[in-house]
Amino acid sequence: MSTVVAPAASKLALLGGTPVGKITYPKFPTFTEAAVQRAADMLRAGKLFGLGRSHSPEIAEAEEVISRYHGGRHILATASGHGALQSALAGLEICCGDEVITTPYTWGASISCILHQTAIPVFVDIDRDMGLIDPAAVEAAITPRTKAILAVHLFGQPANLQRLRAIADKHKLMLIEDGSQAHGAEIGGVRVGTVGDAAGFSCMGGKVLATTEAGYLVTPHERVYWKGAMIGQHMGRAIDPGFPADLREFTDSLVYTYRVSPLNAVLLTAQFAKLDAELAERRRHADLLRGLLAGAKYLRLPTYAPGTKPSYHLLSFTFDSAAAGITRDTFAAALKAEGLRAVGYVPSPIPDWKRLHWQDYRGPRVSWLKALRDAGVDYRNMALPNTRWRVANALETGFDFVAPSDAMIARMAEIILKVEANIAALRDHERTAGPAAPAVRK
Ligand SMILES: Cc1ncc(COP(=O)(O)O)c(C=O)c1O
Repeated sequence: MSTVVAPAASKLALLGGTPVGKITYPKFPTFTEAAVQRAADMLRAGKLFGLGRSHSPEIAEAEEVISRYHGGRHILATASGHGALQSALAGLEICCGDEVITTPYTWGASISCILHQTAIPVFVDIDRDMGLIDPAAVEAAITPRTKAILAVHLFGQPANLQRLRAIADKHKLMLIEDGSQAHGAEIGGVRVGTVGDAAGFSCMGGKVLATTEAGYLVTPHERVYWKGAMIGQHMGRAIDPGFPADLREFTDSLVYTYRVSPLNAVLLTAQFAKLDAELAERRRHADLLRGLLAGAKYLRLPTYAPGTKPSYHLLSFTFDSAAAGITRDTFAAALKAEGLRAVGYVPSPIPDWKRLHWQDYRGPRVSWLKALRDAGVDYRNMALPNTRWRVANALETGFDFVAPSDAMIARMAEIILKVEANIAALRDHERTAGPAAPAVRK
């Protein structure tokens, strides 16, 4: 059982008191000595590119390891998460004005992979608690032009894959998963990446499964793997055994460069070996914090259904500013002064972004505006009430607690409970000083 942290009613650091202390994280990511040695050997040998599995045993090995982790699915390792996602769409032949229903509340690459295929993102609202795509809103947005649903497992929280799969099957749509923030997360006993017709994952250095820069595509369909390879791999990997004979005449070097480096392939293999142990630590720490914050009134963690196992890339809270009587931003400023940095990860709904507004765009030319204009979409002033609520009220904080950090978790709880215990003083402060600057990711 976790120890109870007494809410310290001492003066807030923001108002001149003594800070609780800075939250620090274990070193992350880490690489085993064996992996570092292997990478160093490769640098010395000068074996630094791979044109497919038959050309690079390191790439073949990594894809086999990742495939085992994803129940035997086909895996295409890539240079980035974006490359994996665009390869997924290309492998499913989604392009050229096809509509893809997706979330307005994510990292931009979940959307740019659609734009770069000249497909059309159709934004639907999310739930307030977790910030994930709302299946009912997805179903309501289906038109005869809809080809796919792209769900994002944001902050490590799995989207409702069971409902999304049922909707996709009912309407004969493709389901694509963006698992870039959620390696190893599970919902209803299944691992993210194993339900969609294709999934893309990022393995850049800041992710739960981190290399330097890499990603991978997962798909149960062998042809999707090969067609995905054809847009981003040297000659579509046609040198590899099994390349479909009927596609051969269409392979060439008209490709994006989404090849994974064998150096990163070696890191992928090594990182997967310790992923589950690190996830167990992330989850243990999250449960510990949840217990310590049981009495918190204003800052809430989402409640997950039994069988949901997030991967806790980031920890996502919502703040009840109506009950607290202050803005999220003033609360975040008080947390920061005590030692905990938390900001809203999504600074504004994606459809508000200027580079999507072909009607009045004035910036450097971008390639997707013609497709958006041809489709006649107007993203300006979309209602999206839950998305807008979260943009104003969510707070995310780093959670790379992959090694025992119980004291840091206790400190995190102490900070939050101290700020909550001083809410009346913060109300007075905000009344006189005005709200703090927006606490959003820059
Ligand atoms: C949700 C999401 N999708 C896609 C990406 C793109 O990954 P990458 O930066 O590896 O291209 C990222 C991270 O950067 C992400 O967080």
